[in-house]
Amino acid sequence: MTDFSSVKDRIVIVTGAADGLGKAIAKCYSGNGMKVIVSDVNVEKGTETVLEIKEQGGQVEFFSADVSNEKQVKELISFAIKKYGRLDGIVNNAGISADNRPLHEYSLDEYERLMSINLKGVFLGMKYGIEAILKSKSSSGFVINIASMAGIEGNSAMGTYVGSKHGVVGFTKTAALDYAKYNITVNAICPGTFRTSIWGDASEEIIQQYANIFSPNGRLGDPNEVGYLTLFLASDLARYINGAVIPIDAGSGVGKVTPVKWEHPEILD
Ligand SMILES: NC(=O)c1ccc[n+]([C@@H]2O[C@H](COP(=O)([O-])OP(=O)(O)OC[C@H]3O[C@@H](n4cnc5c(N)ncnc54)[C@H](O)[C@@H]3O)[C@@H](O)[C@H]2O)c1
Repeated sequence: MTDFSSVKDRIVIVTGAADGLGKAIAKCYSGNGMKVIVSDVNVEKGTETVLEIKEQGGQVEFFSADVSNEKQVKELISFAIKKYGRLDGIVNNAGISADNRPLHEYSLDEYERLMSINLKGVFLGMKYGIEAILKSKSSSGFVINIASMAGIEGNSAMGTYVGSKHGVVGFTKTAALDYAKYNITVNAICPGTFRTSIWGDASEEIIQQYANIFSPNGRLGDPNEVGYLTLFLASDLARYINGAVIPIDAGSGVGKVTPVKWEHPEILD
């Protein structure tokens, strides 16, 4: 069995961890003995997540911070240092989506709001998070940026989102080179289509239609699947993985799915 025990007692901040992928990451980390700071703008859901993790025996704290606000990000990092004396890793996960529209129909205000969370938020998390990891002299520092397949490929009607996620991938590659000699790995995870609150009130039928279009295996991703990948990247098993931009998308990004009729479908019987 693969041993993830190297992560035990490591201190990690997960932004946007009240819900969705961030929550799954926080639960996966705390379930494996890491000390987690759940951070989010949603205090109610963040507090619920923390209670859930505590009930499962995890060591976790909540700190409310808006990733687009420099002062609040600095306070978040200071909180981690005050509480635990050091920081080993940060997962820059908080992000928002935008309505699907052709690029010229986005207003500058909409662009700036999305960029301030998806791109500036990751910049601030890296800037202050990495500084704290360096000062902590962590021998196993790590930064994980949750980008998207929209950080690797284009997507019609998603201009601002795609632009922000390509930027996250750029930050990741550059920082991977900047800090490789200082025991910090910096990687990006690129989820395809996952089942989170991003889907709002969409019916099962609509969700399945999307899964059929966007996922070669016909199902949406489970947030825990992102959690397992972040656990691996935080562990000593992954210290040679740096600057990687890792799709987790059932293969949707590798090419088009062409409808095909098998000559011998009976081999599956
Ligand atoms: N769900 C998917 O299919 C999918 C696919 C690709 C990429 N992603 C990326 O994964 C990340 C998480 O997405 P999700 O699906 O879990 O979304 P989600 O909406 O379920 O959760 C996002 C969390 O971020 C928090 N948040 C929003 N703005 C914030 C801010 N300014 N500061 C701090 N927290 C803030 C929200 O309160 C929420 O708890 C995002 O960066 C998203 O772009 C998701």
